[in-house]
Amino acid sequence: MLIGKKPDIPSSEITPKSLWLDRRRFMTGAAVLGAGLSLPRQWAQAAPLQAAKSPLSTTGEELTPLKDVTTYNNYYEFGTDKSDPAANAGGMKTRPWTVEISGEVAKPVTLGIEDILRLAPVEERIYRHRCVEAWSMVIPWNGFPLSALIKHIEPTSKANFVEFTTIADRASMPGLAYPYLDWPYREGLRMDEAMNPLTILAVGLYGETLENQNGAPLRLVVPWKYGFKGAKSIVRIRFVSDQPATAWNTANPSEYGFYSNVNPNVDHPRWTQAKERRIGDFLRRPTLMFNGYGEQVANLYKGMDLKTYF
Ligand code: MTE
Repeated sequence: MLIGKKPDIPSSEITPKSLWLDRRRFMTGAAVLGAGLSLPRQWAQAAPLQAAKSPLSTTGEELTPLKDVTTYNNYYEFGTDKSDPAANAGGMKTRPWTVEISGEVAKPVTLGIEDILRLAPVEERIYRHRCVEAWSMVIPWNGFPLSALIKHIEPTSKANFVEFTTIADRASMPGLAYPYLDWPYREGLRMDEAMNPLTILAVGLYGETLENQNGAPLRLVVPWKYGFKGAKSIVRIRFVSDQPATAWNTANPSEYGFYSNVNPNVDHPRWTQAKERRIGDFLRRPTLMFNGYGEQVANLYKGMDLKTYF
């Protein structure tokens, strides 16, 4: 995306990748054995998720290997290099975790992550994941429709948009010391986009609880939009009547629009969006309108000039 100076992260804060990979193997082994070991908090969090396969999953595409999904990330609060989030996010505490629900709702409420997980069964949703930087992946997310939470909350008739705010914890997030974005990270959706059955809140991927670098414990996934819409580690969901400000749109409105629909016909001012590099591939492939989900979502934008509302 933009970016200026790389943060100077002390080597003491960086977990070597080999250690991280070993840790992951250990976690899987512990889960299989059902061992009641007393693991350090961040190790103990990754757990197998029961998830029925959703018919809304994308089929016929090769999944991006877990290693790439968890080590090639954007999470600027932990640094701007793709490897920074995996190296630096281990110290973020994701339990206890609450999400404040406020704004245009009958009853504002703060829900614990456990309450949120009880709202709807977790499903497996295989989605294309297209970053605005013109790379892509195919990820088997574990999550549930955002609409399940919205129905539970009962927004008022004035709620036209939903704003998502993510955690900004200076103690565990070295990137917050740099003004890459106007922290905390914020994103937004129009109400009908939020209610679309494809829009999910993810709590895992590849059948395991989300790693911190992927947005633990709760992140947004909107598969027809560029990846930056997918706010990670959400702490507040606010229902509002006017279009909310978003982190990237505020930082650079001419490059990152509010809608951010994947669109091969509208280039980013500094690069083409007509093609993308699927992580692991050598050659680039054509980008699909709405990331291939046009049948389900094109009607949301009927009559809108997508060059204006990019
Ligand atoms: N959420 C927060 N809080 N901070 C971020 O920097 N980056 C966004 C999005 N969500 C980001 C974020 C961008 S640019 C992308 S492409 C996706 O997360 C990347 O998700 P992934 O690392 O799980 O692939």
